[in-house]
Amino acid sequence: MTEGTFDNLPSQPKAPNPRLLELNAKAKSPDGLTPHEEGERRGLFAHPDQPEAQRLLQKEYLSSLGLGEMSDKERERLRAIRAENYARRQREEPQIEPTRRTEEDRDMSGDQAQARSHELQLLYTQAKLAALKEHWQGDPKTIIDHMIDDMPDDVTVYTMDTLARMPKDEPKPLELYLLSHARTLPDFTDGKPEGALSVMESMRCLRDEVRTKKFLLGIREAIANLDASGVDVIRMCNAGTGAIPILAIYAALCSDKVKCDALELNPNAAQIAHEVVKEFGLQDRIHVRQADATKFEPDEPLDFLVSETMHSGLTAEPIVQILSNLQPHVKDSGITLPSRVNIQASLVSLADYASPNGKFVKIYGDMHPLTDQDWQEVASYSPGDNLDEISITIPTGDKPKGNYMVGITSTVDVGTQHIAPYQSLITMPQYVRDTKSDPRIFTLTGNAQDPINVKYRPGETLEGKAA
Ligand SMILES: C[S@@+](CC[C@H](N)C(=O)[O-])C[C@H]1O[C@@H](n2cnc3c(N)ncnc32)[C@H](O)[C@@H]1O
Repeated sequence: MTEGTFDNLPSQPKAPNPRLLELNAKAKSPDGLTPHEEGERRGLFAHPDQPEAQRLLQKEYLSSLGLGEMSDKERERLRAIRAENYARRQREEPQIEPTRRTEEDRDMSGDQAQARSHELQLLYTQAKLAALKEHWQGDPKTIIDHMIDDMPDDVTVYTMDTLARMPKDEPKPLELYLLSHARTLPDFTDGKPEGALSVMESMRCLRDEVRTKKFLLGIREAIANLDASGVDVIRMCNAGTGAIPILAIYAALCSDKVKCDALELNPNAAQIAHEVVKEFGLQDRIHVRQADATKFEPDEPLDFLVSETMHSGLTAEPIVQILSNLQPHVKDSGITLPSRVNIQASLVSLADYASPNGKFVKIYGDMHPLTDQDWQEVASYSPGDNLDEISITIPTGDKPKGNYMVGITSTVDVGTQHIAPYQSLITMPQYVRDTKSDPRIFTLTGNAQDPINVKYRPGETLEGKAA
């Protein structure tokens, strides 16, 4: 992977994304509506040719977020405009039935359907940005600090009775605020180099709110400590910065002393990250580089190293390899976040996992069953530790007979901030599997049985890893 820099790019005018306009005209949602109609139905879109409707739609959206008020009279007026528009559309385009699916929709493969849903998301995001932009006037640090205060400290647990109240997978205020600083909204359907996340995936990390909040609070605390230590410059590296380089940007907003190399493997994500940094006016202090952080050599010793390139149990993502490469460049007086990852394991009864009375948590789009487990700590990792293999032995002797799965999770310390199992995707239990979607079931007889051994290398998935 070549390393690139984006400082010399020609500046692009701020114009609507042509792809967006094209999609607006052509694309249909699974309900057979154009994205514009779909957005309208969800109350997100302004009618470009109806200023009154546009103003009322924005009011409706802001009031739904508790950021504004809408009178009954205004609501009634918007309802009447919607009814008029709907009736007019039926007259002008009677072929568009709200529930009709097009031939094209029926024929779409999984990938195409996913691309379509990403495209719709892009359109909703743009509409939300249009509605919210004027509410974000002022000092970015103050705005982000308010958003951090509003972010939850823990995940919400839902039961079968409350599942309907689970939030939709929609961008959260912090993601929208940062995205409002991109020159054009990204094409969410981009490919990615091996080992990297796609643009969309890296942006969605911000919806993992407990994770994001604890990393930001950990960064604020670390910068305060480094500032107080009297250094003139805080040399920082953010390895795996994503398309929305929030961790680097927030660090730079916390202290003028921060100078940061923000590394990203995915060139499209690096490009967007650079644009966002530039819009915040931080391009002289945050240098976005397309680079592989497992190989990158910083020019000078580091005071501060931050990398959120991990999945639970240190599986699937390369944080261990990245920190093995970069931790030797951190000064003795420096700080690395995360500061510790403890890996935990447990046998989880299949009945408990699949129980219809179970509890669930949702991290952005994905719902996860929550079981009441005694997690046993099986390994402890600090940045730079030599960790070639994670080898876990799980005793079976004390378990009643039945079917079990092997769950692996972790806790993550970010300075004094602690992320517990289930609070984030990076601490969400994963299960040893035979294939991607097939968990391995271990049948215990209740008699003396050998322990279960699980071995994997950091960064690998848990497929086929039990002996
Ligand atoms: C979990 S995201 C973090 C996004 C963002 N920093 C945040 O915390 O909200 C991790 C990012 O690291 C990138 N990445 C993965 N491996 C990398 C590597 N070897 N070098 C640089 N970046 C990498 C991924 O493409 C992804 O964008």
